[in-house]
Amino acid sequence: MDVEFAPAKVNLALHLRRRRPDGYHDLETIFAFTDFGDTLTVAPADALSLRVTGPFAAPAGLGDDNLVLRAARALGEAVGVSAGAALVLDKDIPVAAGLGGGSADAAATLRLLARLWGVHWPAARLEALAAGLGADVPACVQSRTIFGSGRGDALAPWPEGLAGTPILLVNPGVAVPTGPVFAGWDRQDRGGIAAGAPLQALRNDMTAAALEIAPVIGTVLAALAATRPVLARMSGSGATCLALYRDAGARDVAAAAIAAHGWWQAATVLR
Ligand code: C5P
Repeated sequence: MDVEFAPAKVNLALHLRRRRPDGYHDLETIFAFTDFGDTLTVAPADALSLRVTGPFAAPAGLGDDNLVLRAARALGEAVGVSAGAALVLDKDIPVAAGLGGGSADAAATLRLLARLWGVHWPAARLEALAAGLGADVPACVQSRTIFGSGRGDALAPWPEGLAGTPILLVNPGVAVPTGPVFAGWDRQDRGGIAAGAPLQALRNDMTAAALEIAPVIGTVLAALAATRPVLARMSGSGATCLALYRDAGARDVAAAAIAAHGWWQAATVLR
């Protein structure tokens, strides 16, 4: 039995640049990852199987379109492995929440099964396979603070040392599907992410469109701003919002205040 952690993804900034002819969007984003996430366990088996447990098992679903199974099949086919794997996903990351849960699970599957099956690919090859599973999956394979451009799958180092930064994640319990938020963007290019720009000067350009779908996101952002964080911002296409704090004490005071709203939350740190 082997275990792999699937850290939740946040976007510390997300700048939309243009809609592409293929329907995707060119963007620039700063991905970061947290010590909060899903846990994937595997045992050797003849066939491929997946069981999902945990608080968000039901919305994550067990269907064949589950990204864990798709990732397992993609890797198995690429390396010509005939063995299966008995996978168990403990689903703690809310679904359709802007936290990249499905992408993180797919990336964890690739890391875990590469280990189980003795696959020793160069990082670039695994990332190319990951990109076929979703735009955020290559960043999730790395699971460290990283700059993404193109669809989000062209990766470059991001120099800022953020590991250990206390972070609070808050989700008001409204599932927000990604596609409609992209479609609701006003298509105004407000500029890219300049190297060395302070995070506070950056944006999430999906916020306005997400607010149209889930106005409660505005209430969450206002509640977080009232806790005087270093930064408060929506993650991905929402509805989860994040706040960064100077120290764990400030984060925990904020978490206690936010708890009064009855929203889902996780108090953790950036990796
Ligand atoms: O790549 P992934 O399957 O995670 O993307 C989900 C949806 O988000 C896509 O179908 C597309 O509508 C949208 N998307 C986009 N531009 C990106 C990434 C995702 O339009 N860069």
